[in-house]
Amino acid sequence: MAVWYNILMSKRIIAPSILSANFADMGSDVKSLSAIGADWVHIDVMDGVFVPNLTFGFKMIKDIRPLSDLFFDAHLMITNPKRYVKRFVESGAELVSFHYEAEEEIDETLDIILGAGAKCGLAINPDTDVDVIIPYLPKLDLILIMSVFPGFGGQKFIEGSLERISRARELRDKYAPQAVVEVDGGVTVDNAKSIFAAGADVLVAGNAVFGAADRRAAVKLIRGE
Ligand code: DX5
Ligand code: ZN
Repeated sequence: MAVWYNILMSKRIIAPSILSANFADMGSDVKSLSAIGADWVHIDVMDGVFVPNLTFGFKMIKDIRPLSDLFFDAHLMITNPKRYVKRFVESGAELVSFHYEAEEEIDETLDIILGAGAKCGLAINPDTDVDVIIPYLPKLDLILIMSVFPGFGGQKFIEGSLERISRARELRDKYAPQAVVEVDGGVTVDNAKSIFAAGADVLVAGNAVFGAADRRAAVKLIRGE
């Protein structure tokens, strides 16, 4: 299991999203991630209600957990995440993010994640004001800025997201030095540089990694190496 201190020390974190993996070959795709130079495994959980798509739940995480030492970053796109977050931690997620738009009891949900021994993150959709995260900053380990509307991989990065990332970074630097800023949706080899420059610490990349002919090269290029 990865140590958060080491995560914060490593400069640019690349988190391939297994939503773009081959579901019929999930085990080998997950196993390959450390060999291609990825830092985290981004795990997109969708319930078909909060977003118009379905993926997988606890069992997938439990089954892939022994296959990788990488940090497991679960992104819950589900309604009432409070009901489920503990089980995601028990299944092997080291960080659990849920959506601001999907939960009324945000503080309680963050406390459950932290109490279960994991890191916690709060995700916001492209049309949600970034400043809504302010009251939760002292507790957060991660701020997840969506740069597409959640639900599907392979969408186009929404340009206005760069300003939102900068605002999140500003808030992080001021009120939450313990937290990292993660950006999710439409990240490519071409736009990664400007996303990091805007203030991101962690880039999620689904299509840009799993769709690449050379995945290891894609991870390197996204990281800017
Ligand atoms: C979108 C998911 C993303 C998505 C990213 O709802 O949260 O993690 O898989 O995929 P790409 O990088 O292809 O946009
Ligand atoms: Zn995601």
